[in-house]
Amino acid sequence: MKYLKNNKKGVIKIKKPKVFVTREIPKPGLDLLRKFCEVEVNSHDRVLTKQEIIKGIKGKDALLCLLTDNIDEEIIASNPNLKVIANYAVGYNNIDVSSATKYSIPVTNTPGVLTDTTADLTFSLLMCAARRLVESDKFMRAGKYKGWGPMLMLGHEITGKTIGIIGLGRIGSAVAKRAVNGFNMKVIYYEHDGPKPEVDKALGARYADFDQLLKEADFITLHVPLNDQTKHMISTKEFGLMKNTAILINTSRGPVINEKALVEALKKGKIAGAALDVYEEEPAMAPGLKELDNALIVPHVGSATIETRTKMATMAAENVVAAVQCKVPPNLVNRVSLEQWKCKI
Ligand code: DGY
Repeated sequence: MKYLKNNKKGVIKIKKPKVFVTREIPKPGLDLLRKFCEVEVNSHDRVLTKQEIIKGIKGKDALLCLLTDNIDEEIIASNPNLKVIANYAVGYNNIDVSSATKYSIPVTNTPGVLTDTTADLTFSLLMCAARRLVESDKFMRAGKYKGWGPMLMLGHEITGKTIGIIGLGRIGSAVAKRAVNGFNMKVIYYEHDGPKPEVDKALGARYADFDQLLKEADFITLHVPLNDQTKHMISTKEFGLMKNTAILINTSRGPVINEKALVEALKKGKIAGAALDVYEEEPAMAPGLKELDNALIVPHVGSATIETRTKMATMAAENVVAAVQCKVPPNLVNRVSLEQWKCKI
């Protein structure tokens, strides 16, 4: 609590704005929040229920939430006086942004700081799937290795192959750079807004129509946000177009792929493999997925480095601090009318 001296009336208490944080985040973010706000952090190491979030934000000025929190209209309407909903992620499909906008509540995200980290994981997955590293590791641990064999664990060449990038935003472009500069790969990409001539020139990349990309690419990697247009963008028909040697990588959002159709495609050998960081009904997986040797599965760790998660925490905290001070938060994603924004110090 801060105090202001007032000569006539003695001491006036200045209340700090109150923030609810739905789960422990790296300390630098919490430290920054605590400098300016009264902070309540979910004390359980788990995702909160809707009712727990509603209880948590009661009487609060700000909400700092995670991609695992489904911030729907009911939650937003339970406290229309929130000055900000700050997501600890670049993707914000977990927030009903149109409801937040309806209540004139700014929504923010954490763009940029996780671009390289996620591109690095995308490439790690691509390489591990192509060279069957997880299968090989399991094979060794099971004591099955009896010596070098000419046909043992044959994988797929990476250098010089064609990578098809769906969504050439920040992360897609960072993947393209790795592919060209590190592995001399040919890059084809699909973007719903059409070709990006500056990228074509800088990376020697080529825009391809969606179906053409699916037919041509040896590796297909997804970097689109999740929305009505991208949900199930990859399903049975699309698997039918891919090469049976293709490997699909997803570090974007699970529902972009119809996961049941993926299991079928992997079982029937319509594609050679898939490497996934995200799932349609996270944390659950489609039946049969985890039994498949040609599926490489990791637990949504695209941005999971100490450095990046720390930057994300600081960035989300900066968004909260700006908003509770009635400054436009730096990473605003919705258009909120400033006149209607209920920000009062
Ligand atoms: C994001 O920020 O959207 C990532 O998925 C977090 O790992």
